Amino acid sequence: MNKKKVFNQKVFVINNLICKEIRCLKKHVQDNRSILIESLKIVQKYYGWVSDNSMIFLSEILKIPVSEIESVATFYSQIFRNPVGRYVIKFCDSVVCYITGYKKIKKTLEKKLCIKCGETTTDNNFTLLPICCLGACDKGPVLMINNKTYFHLNKSSILKILDSLK
Ligand code: FES
Repeated sequence: MNKKKVFNQKVFVINNLICKEIRCLKKHVQDNRSILIESLKIVQKYYGWVSDNSMIFLSEILKIPVSEIESVATFYSQIFRNPVGRYVIKFCDSVVCYITGYKKIKKTLEKKLCIKCGETTTDNNFTLLPICCLGACDKGPVLMINNKTYFHLNKSSILKILDSLK
């Protein structure tokens, strides 16, 4: 079987799973807009990000225009519109973390990973993204890697965290 056919079959299976989960959500709401963010999260859970094709697919399931889905998807920083690495590092660049050492955190991460903000390492392991306040301002500087949050960071704690993820 050729690669394209295998890929299309994989997409078909995954989209069926996505459809099943979203159908369950739809049973509990009157307006599909109320489950749009959750639906985007479901797509991201399966694909790791939300592509243009996925938005067209969501538009068909939810009967919401693609333009509306796109505006929601691009507004929320937790929805990725481009492929990301295995570990998504989101470091807080809001005011308190900025004061407590954001610049050093950013410099350490960029230097260690050899990428700039918004980029992914060539081995697809790490993506570096700035993010607004993570709600732990008294513990800054703060960052989040996938779903885990790290507090009171400094250069050596960041290097230890990164080493533990390899
Ligand atoms: S300013 Fe960084 S967690 Fe609030």
